[in-house]
Amino acid sequence: MSKQDEVILSGIRPTGRLHYGNYFGAIQKFIVLQEQGLRCYYFIADYHALTTASERVDYFRYTLDMLRTYVACGLDPSKSIIYRQSDVPCTAELALLLGMVTHVGFLERGTTYKDTVAKLPGGTTRGPEGNPIPYGLLGYPVLMAADILIVRADTVPVGDDQRQHVEMAIDIAEKFNRRFDTVALKIPKPVVRNAVRLPGLDGAAKMGKSDNNDLGLLDDEKIVLKKIKAVQTTTDPTPIEGASDDPDDVIPQMPPSVGALYRLLSLLAPEEVYLDFTRKYRRGEKFYGVLKTTLADYVNAFNAPIIEAFNAPGNNDESIKEFLTENAKKVTPVALETVEACREAIGIGRSLHRA
Ligand code: TYM
Repeated sequence: MSKQDEVILSGIRPTGRLHYGNYFGAIQKFIVLQEQGLRCYYFIADYHALTTASERVDYFRYTLDMLRTYVACGLDPSKSIIYRQSDVPCTAELALLLGMVTHVGFLERGTTYKDTVAKLPGGTTRGPEGNPIPYGLLGYPVLMAADILIVRADTVPVGDDQRQHVEMAIDIAEKFNRRFDTVALKIPKPVVRNAVRLPGLDGAAKMGKSDNNDLGLLDDEKIVLKKIKAVQTTTDPTPIEGASDDPDDVIPQMPPSVGALYRLLSLLAPEEVYLDFTRKYRRGEKFYGVLKTTLADYVNAFNAPIIEAFNAPGNNDESIKEFLTENAKKVTPVALETVEACREAIGIGRSLHRA
């Protein structure tokens, strides 16, 4: 397969506004791959957002805003096929077929499911019907497998937190092909080893919108400064005996929240600025105030063009709806081809009403 034939697919749930974890875990790679002229499918996973919904939410509004942010970050609907998951409803049909080869025990090992179970006060035996977790959440990896497999993706650029989901998609596809003695499903590659996991501003292992520890791509200067100033830096660093200025010297173990600030600085600031702050840390200087304002300046400089492009007159609901309509039409043929091949492989035969 030549590089140009490589198919890329990735999605993001419409949870509101995109944060730095989304950017450095996913969007940055989306843009690099798009610029390599590969066939890139990027979508908003609105079906997936429903797995945690307990009431009506205006997901369409979130979808449009997130797509405006996609465009503001540099995703180009004339180069990448940017669409909404629910505009390709045969994904749900493929998920149903894949569900027939996926064991409940396999899904119960999914980390998203396990984390949700861990947070349940009464465990899975709570409530009149026992396990109160929605079927849709347990089946989350099956739907994600359908997203990936339906366009015959080779590569799935995601943050490290989604690694297990991609592995599950690979397992499901291999099992389907084996069971029905078919090659209807193309097996994607596993997630690259160096996938990013950006910590939260509270020092938690992962930045996430629902964890309230995120830094947003559309956060204005005031919010950025407020969020960064609120990061816990109560303990001063302990000076290291004989600390040198050698940039390769080990940086001592930092409290997680300080580590989060350094991580962001390493992504946004020139190397010499980052190294200067690591030297300060080794020497045990009191510098957290300057670190925070410096980092806030870099964050604001990063956000400013995104905010401007987000608000640009051409980047509006109407133009988004237009490309969503056009792009859904571009995904549908390959998606239908995959679903039809899977129907044949299983034995129910091709649909009688689709062209
Ligand atoms: P979601 O919406 O939680 O996150 C979207 C993308 O952002 C990445 N990400 C991070 N990367 C690094 N550090 C972080 N703190 C961080 N937080 C989020 C995620 O890894 C992801 O790449 N299940 C997916 C959406 C999805 C999907 C798919 C992805 C549905 N179907 C098919 C790929 C292929 C999700 O919930 O991502």
